[in-house]
Amino acid sequence: MEKLRAAIDKARQTRSDHVPARAPRPEPAPAAPSNLARWEALAPLEIEERQLVRHRVVTRLANAAATPFDILRTKTLLQMRQNGWKRLAITSPMPRSGKTTIACNLALGLGRQGDLQSILLDLDLRDPSAHKFFKTRPPHGISEVLTGAVPFDKQALRYGSNVAISMAQKAEADPTQILLSEEATAAIDKIQADFEPDIMIFDLPSVLVNDDTRAFLKNADCALIVARAERTQYDQFEACQAEVAQHTNIIGTVLNAYRHDKRSTGKA
Ligand SMILES: Nc1ncnc2c1ncn2[C@@H]1O[C@H](COP(=O)(O)OP(=O)(O)OP(=O)(O)O)[C@@H](O)[C@H]1O
Ligand SMILES: [Mg+2]
Repeated sequence: MEKLRAAIDKARQTRSDHVPARAPRPEPAPAAPSNLARWEALAPLEIEERQLVRHRVVTRLANAAATPFDILRTKTLLQMRQNGWKRLAITSPMPRSGKTTIACNLALGLGRQGDLQSILLDLDLRDPSAHKFFKTRPPHGISEVLTGAVPFDKQALRYGSNVAISMAQKAEADPTQILLSEEATAAIDKIQADFEPDIMIFDLPSVLVNDDTRAFLKNADCALIVARAERTQYDQFEACQAEVAQHTNIIGTVLNAYRHDKRSTGKA
């Protein structure tokens, strides 16, 4: 664990040396009426509090449980703004590290920032889970948006007034081609042009299990790497970091489920 912590600290020190892979995007103009109409036209997503709690999504209201995610949100947003970045990928070396938990908490925490418009996309097409976190079944799957078969505004659901969430309906057998495709890049560009979000969050699969994240990272401005305390191994973290750095900027790392208290049982 100390080795992993040291590796994460080292990554923090060196990431500022990284040259931005993409040109900074210009600041968006204030929301135009067409933009607001588009957001209002999205089908609303009603979420049960009980369901959120079950999945450790705690950021709907400002409280002590939400504070660590709010700090992560603010630090991430500040760094993204400084660099003109709009698209944040969330990934990890291996599965079950807490990527979707963090992505959903960030998205709902962003919902409390009324001046910001945010979009969460579940791009773990092989093993999607955001629809389980929110216990909902969207009218179409996100894959149909990425292939251009269905427009985003007919697929995404709106949480509150300023968060759009695009989820899968079912797992794809071979999603790498979809994630690698020019159609997917065009679809993401169109969502950005039409909805002008301040931040797009891509909930991606783990890096070391297949090619899906590698295929899609070119569409991200930066990536947050999630390591899980007591599970992620040092060499896995380093391999993941090296891989991600080839494709985009590493904005930071989260050591999830780390307990300072040695007497802790390890339970949340
Ligand atoms: N800090 C934490 N403490 C305890 N349990 C956690 C914590 N973060 C996440 N979990 C739990 O770990 C499991 C995996 O979390 P999650 O689905 O967010 O990970 P993931 O990296 O998205 O997984 P996958 O690779 O399958 O997509 C879930 O049951 C989640 O509730
Ligand atoms: Mg996940």
